[in-house]
Amino acid sequence: MTTSVFYIPSVNIIGADSLTSAIDTVREHGWRRALIVTDTMLNKLGMAGQIQKSLAERDIFSVIYDGTHPNPTTANVAAGLELLKENQCDCVISLGGGSPHDCAKGIALVAANGGEIRDYEGVDRSAKPQLPMIAINTTAGTASEMTRFCIITDESRHIKMAIVDKHVTPVLSVNDPTLMMGMPKSLTAATGMDALTHAIEAYVSTAATPITDACALKAMTMIAEHLPHAVEDGSNMAAREAMAYAQFLAGMAFNNASLGYVHAMAHQLGGFYDLPHGVCNAVLLPHVQQFNSKVAAARLRDCAQAMGVDVSRMNAQQGAEACIAEIRSLAQEVNIPAGLRALNVKEEDFPVLATNALNDACGLTNPVTATHEEIMAIYRAAM
Ligand SMILES: [Fe+2]
Repeated sequence: MTTSVFYIPSVNIIGADSLTSAIDTVREHGWRRALIVTDTMLNKLGMAGQIQKSLAERDIFSVIYDGTHPNPTTANVAAGLELLKENQCDCVISLGGGSPHDCAKGIALVAANGGEIRDYEGVDRSAKPQLPMIAINTTAGTASEMTRFCIITDESRHIKMAIVDKHVTPVLSVNDPTLMMGMPKSLTAATGMDALTHAIEAYVSTAATPITDACALKAMTMIAEHLPHAVEDGSNMAAREAMAYAQFLAGMAFNNASLGYVHAMAHQLGGFYDLPHGVCNAVLLPHVQQFNSKVAAARLRDCAQAMGVDVSRMNAQQGAEACIAEIRSLAQEVNIPAGLRALNVKEEDFPVLATNALNDACGLTNPVTATHEEIMAIYRAAM
C-alpha cells in the first residue's frame, strides 16, 4: 500500500458575496501590504479597484500588477516580483482565472525562496512556503485558486513549465459565482472543458485514491449537466454556481491524483502557439482517452456513467467508447473547435511538441506510458 497526501487550501469560501469574508480574512491574519495580481481586462472593469478600496477600508495598503498575460510568462513573474519588493508587500491576492493565479503563485514562491521561477520547474523544488496568497477566482475553471500547480511560459524556450509544488497552495480560495457571470461564452466553454479534463485525467490517473475518485465523478456529473446551460445563458446563476462547485471538485481530484497526457500535451500547444489552455485540452481529451482505453477502459466506463450515459449493458470497452463519444458531443455542444488544424497547429512541429510533452510533470501519472511516436500519433489524430 502506498501513502497518499491530500492537499487543499486550509480555507475555501464558495458562494455569492464570499468576497467580503475573504477581505476580512486578510485583516484577521494581520497582513498589511498586498500585491494584487490580475490582468488588464479585470483591472479596466474596475474589479481590482474594488478590492483595493475594500482593503483600504480595513487599513490595508495594496498595489496592483495587471500585466498578466493569458499564458503567464517568466517576464510577468519577474515584473510582479519587482513591484512586490518595491512596495514591501507581505501577501499576494490574485484576481482572475488561472492566469493571474499562476502568475501570483510564481511571484509569491520566488519572493519567499529567491532565485527565479525557472529554478522551481518540476515537483516540490522549493524549500519554503510562498508568501501568503489569497486567490479570488473569476472562471470555472482551472481550479488554480486551490491547487499546488503553477504553469508559467518560459518565453526563451517556448515551453510551459509545470511547477508542481505544495508550497504554491494558496492559504484561502474564493469562488464567488457572481464574479463569473461576466465570462463570455467561449471562455465559459473552454474553462468548463478544462475542468472536465481535470476530472477525467484524475480519475484514470495512476495516483487516484477513493477521495479523488469521489470528487472526480461528482465533478463530471455536474459539468455534463450544467456546462451547456452556463454557456447558453451566462446569467443563469444556478448553472454558474454548479460550475463553481464542479470545477472545485475537479481541482480537489487533480490536485492530489495529478493529471495525464492531455495536460502534458496541451501545455506544449499553449507554450508554442500561445493558445487557450481549455481549448487545447478539450480538443485533445477524446484522443488521449482513446489511447488510454487500452488499459483504462473500465475507468472510462465509470466516467461515461457519471456523465449520464446508461452503461448497464456495456462492457468496459463499449463504456470507454461511450465516454469518448460523450466528451465529443459536450465539446461540440459548447462550440469547441473540432481539431488542432482549426487552431493553426503545424504538423512539422509535432516532433518537438512530443519531446516536450514527455518532459512535462503532468504526464507522469497517465495510466499508460507513451513513446515519442505514440504522442506524435495522438497529435496527428487530433488535427
Ligand atoms: Fe487544466
